[in-house]
Amino acid sequence: MTSDSTGGSEGTEGVRLQKVLAKAGIASRRGAEELIAQGRVSVDGEIVREFGRRVDPESSVIHVDGARVVVREDLVYLALNKPKGVHTTMTDDRGRPCVGDFVRRHSNADAGLFHIGRLDADTEGLLLLTNDGELAHRLMHPSYEVFKTYLAEVDGAVPRGIGKQLRAGIELEDGPVKVDKFRVVDALPGRTMVEVVLHEGRKHIVRRLLAEIGHPVHRLVRTAIGDVHLGDLKPGKLRALNRKEIASLHAVVGR
Ligand code: URA
Repeated sequence: MTSDSTGGSEGTEGVRLQKVLAKAGIASRRGAEELIAQGRVSVDGEIVREFGRRVDPESSVIHVDGARVVVREDLVYLALNKPKGVHTTMTDDRGRPCVGDFVRRHSNADAGLFHIGRLDADTEGLLLLTNDGELAHRLMHPSYEVFKTYLAEVDGAVPRGIGKQLRAGIELEDGPVKVDKFRVVDALPGRTMVEVVLHEGRKHIVRRLLAEIGHPVHRLVRTAIGDVHLGDLKPGKLRALNRKEIASLHAVVGR
């Protein structure tokens, strides 16, 4: 066992909870003790009130006020605004532009990152990347319904009542699809900007859905995944997700 000067013991017995929270930037060591005393911190699903509690930062699942706090320093969560024409792969053996190029440019190493889900080469917008395999796996699993928001520029004028039809469900060749939300954002000459929210991951789903109702897509941008928004991130740029965004993704998959 090794000991630090502040009494935190590490090694097989773990690290004091307040030290782990302070290191993760949740609060000062003192502030973390207050959170613990107030019963606001849980470890592996159980509220912890004693300061002496040691945890394993590698494996413990820690929540503060019900929000997951990731204390592992090696875990990375990034948002990329994927430009049009870029393939959702980490490498491309045909030399086509791919998501991996942007990640390597950003951090000089891809640190074992992988993309969570994919976007068509022609689709722009929010793509999440992480090296947290368990989170990525769960977010991509159809049983976890992560809402994804898309902005689409479509052909023609979209008549009233179409939202109702889309929410009720549209039959596609590989089965029905329902949207969770739909709204017309703007009417342009000969075109309409619409926003679609759905929790489906089938290939080309938004393009196929809108084409099916007679409004082929000219431009498609994913603007949000759950509570993580693209915001004003420029095409080709990456940013680290903040603590709240990371916690929101864990909450979606019950982690
Ligand atoms: N739907 C599509 O049609 N394309 C995407 O890239 C994502 C959703």
